[in-house]
Amino acid sequence: MTPFIPEDKLMEIKDAASLEEVVGQYVKLVQRGRNLLGLCPFHADTKPSFTVAPDKGIFHCFGCGAGGNVFSFLMQYHRLSFPEAVQELAKRYGIPITFRELGPEGGKSAQKRQLMQEINTLAAAFYQAFLKGSEGQAGREYLVQRGLTEEVIKAFHLGYAPNQWDALRLHLQNRGISLEVAQEVGLLVPRQSGGHYDRFRDRIIFPIEDRQGRVMAFGGRVVGEGEPKYLNSPESPLYSKGRHLFGLPQAAEVLRQTGVALVVEGYLDLLALRVHGIAPVLATLGTALTREQVRLLKSLVSKVVLVFDGDQAGARAMQRALPLFGQEGLAVRVLPLPPGLDPDSYAFKNGVEIFRSPWESAQPWFSYLMEELIKAHGLEIEGRVRILEELKPYLQNLADPVEQGLWLKVAAERLKVDEATLRRSLTSLGPMAAGRLAPAGQLLVNLEKGLLKWVLHHPTAVPWEELEEWAQEFEDQELKGLMALIINNFREYGGLDHSLLIQQVEAENLRQQICALTLGEEEFCGPAVDLRAADWRRFLKIRRLKKVKQALKEKLEGAVAADGHEEVPALQAKDQEIDRQLEALKVGPIAEGEN
Ligand code: CTP
Ligand code: MN
Repeated sequence: MTPFIPEDKLMEIKDAASLEEVVGQYVKLVQRGRNLLGLCPFHADTKPSFTVAPDKGIFHCFGCGAGGNVFSFLMQYHRLSFPEAVQELAKRYGIPITFRELGPEGGKSAQKRQLMQEINTLAAAFYQAFLKGSEGQAGREYLVQRGLTEEVIKAFHLGYAPNQWDALRLHLQNRGISLEVAQEVGLLVPRQSGGHYDRFRDRIIFPIEDRQGRVMAFGGRVVGEGEPKYLNSPESPLYSKGRHLFGLPQAAEVLRQTGVALVVEGYLDLLALRVHGIAPVLATLGTALTREQVRLLKSLVSKVVLVFDGDQAGARAMQRALPLFGQEGLAVRVLPLPPGLDPDSYAFKNGVEIFRSPWESAQPWFSYLMEELIKAHGLEIEGRVRILEELKPYLQNLADPVEQGLWLKVAAERLKVDEATLRRSLTSLGPMAAGRLAPAGQLLVNLEKGLLKWVLHHPTAVPWEELEEWAQEFEDQELKGLMALIINNFREYGGLDHSLLIQQVEAENLRQQICALTLGEEEFCGPAVDLRAADWRRFLKIRRLKKVKQALKEKLEGAVAADGHEEVPALQAKDQEIDRQLEALKVGPIAEGEN
């Protein structure tokens, strides 16, 4: 996959990391024979199509074709680069890895990100100190006026950016920090005339931290009224707002205990709840909830309660987030607030009783959605048609067919339509229905693919030296290359490690094919492997002879056309000899009809 990370390091990490364990953190797996089966995290899966082979270290989805090894899984799941996935696994399994080992590209970007992160940490401490100092007085007063306590301000490392153009710049400069990198992470802004100035000035600072409490970015709110209300760190190699949630390290422990997360929209919503003793809260960062955030949530809790502002925008944000939960298979409920209130104002006005057992106070997401649509469109025929049309994608999106069936019933009853008709209308159209029909069991297209598949299933059935001879005869260059790679693994490591093989293949589609072939239904499981090996030899020989026969035929035609009749008898004799050989090869070691 990459020539840069030393192979022995990769092997070490790959061997330490159990695919089953890593996948199991995100996908519920059940044992099926020697493999494990679950709902595919890469498409809206309804029947478990996602297969993990712990002994081979690879996975494959028979629904969408995704496949790979433990590195590819993390890369696809969290949208990481290869070096990032390697680093992540090395960290999880306690294997030290140096920047040098990450390779020039991976090392450089990892090193850069670490530097960016350290600059953020420095800046966070700088802002925190200013909030405590004399220049931070207005900021402190504002936070107190918003009801925040000393304890909460401290726990969330809130700060204040002074009302100066270059306070942070000087601070960083004095420490020999690269201003270019500080600019890249968004703390400094380049001046047209050259040089830099501070992005955040006279603002309350909310550091956005990752799970480990490392500062990834900042939000800065004006003190009191002003525009823009918030300034945020821009997207950078370090930070992507769709991948983080505010308040994560502060809530992690209690989330683990309760298993339910409240998700709100604003920093101050979260902090207000916290002031009132409601801790299992996370906040989105001014955007609609993303798939990455839902996955992050899924890795933390089993249930999520969305608490969005009681206005149109809040309702819309909530409605847009719901399909993601359905697709990712994470239980969600919604807690709509009265019009005009956000969690912050609600908590100070009405207290936080409804947030104490949030799952119980919340509404099932589907009923909420349906009632919102009924409010909007009414229950006349036209309204009901429209509502069903709008509900359809939500139902089609659900990963769990049981849940889908239950909501279908609810919708049919409430909207007074025939349940069976509704069910039919769901499966007839819909992008998901088409997706489900996508490539199931791969059919063998030809001899070479069949042979390769068999080799992947039984890598030691035939000595690799013989495989090498077979590979010579491959015509499909891609398959030939794969055979060569397999043989090379035998030569170098004395065996075939499927997950390592995946690693050595550059092209994504090829990697997926290897997984599909390796984990695909085996057509030739009946007869003993050595009989099957003899059969492959026979097939290859037949093909070879047929090629010779074809060449002879062309020669014969050529000879006749050129009036070179003296050559004809010899050619014909050769042809007959080949026919005899082919005849003898007709019956193989395996009786007809055994596969
Ligand atoms: N936001 C933003 N930029 C804006 C407005 C909002 O990035 N101009 C993001 C912030 O992350 C903010 C969230 O969207 O926390 C929710 O916005 P809003 O409800 O307006 O802000 P609150 O956090 O509730 O702040 P306040 O109560 O002080 O208005
Ligand atoms: Mn608010």
